[in-house]
Amino acid sequence: MKTLMRSAAIFLFGSLVGSGLATADAVEDKYNQYCHICHATGVANAPKVHDVEAWKPRMDKGMDALLNSVKNGLNAMPPGGMCPDCSDDEYKALIKFMSSPKP
Ligand code: HEC
Repeated sequence: MKTLMRSAAIFLFGSLVGSGLATADAVEDKYNQYCHICHATGVANAPKVHDVEAWKPRMDKGMDALLNSVKNGLNAMPPGGMCPDCSDDEYKALIKFMSSPKP
């Protein structure tokens, strides 16, 4: 019981500390929650996650242009990429996550 309480406390502390910070895990969580639906399989020509070749021509546009695409939407991608609470920094982290090779 004591151990259980302690792990609960650690868990709670961990999630408090983790919230708001763009940790690698938080980025992956957001990816799974919002971007994954389309970017896992490449729905409607979406560049696939960790497919560096597919992302290369996109990345060449520059991070600001990509950030604008997500925020305003692009063809089949809805504005915001279906993430209602992503900040600019989170979008940038998500774009980096998706355009990098599988870790
Ligand atoms: C409903 C499906 C869908 C979701 C959800 C979605 N995307 Fe996309 N995304 C697309 C499609 C389709 C394209 C390709 C658009 C095109 O070039 O025609 C795309 C392209 C992009 C691009 C490249 C834009 C460019 O200018 O070339 C970025 C960056 C991107 N998505 C980021 C994200 C992020 C970050 C998320 C999650 C917050 C997300 N997307 C969620 C469908 C989606």
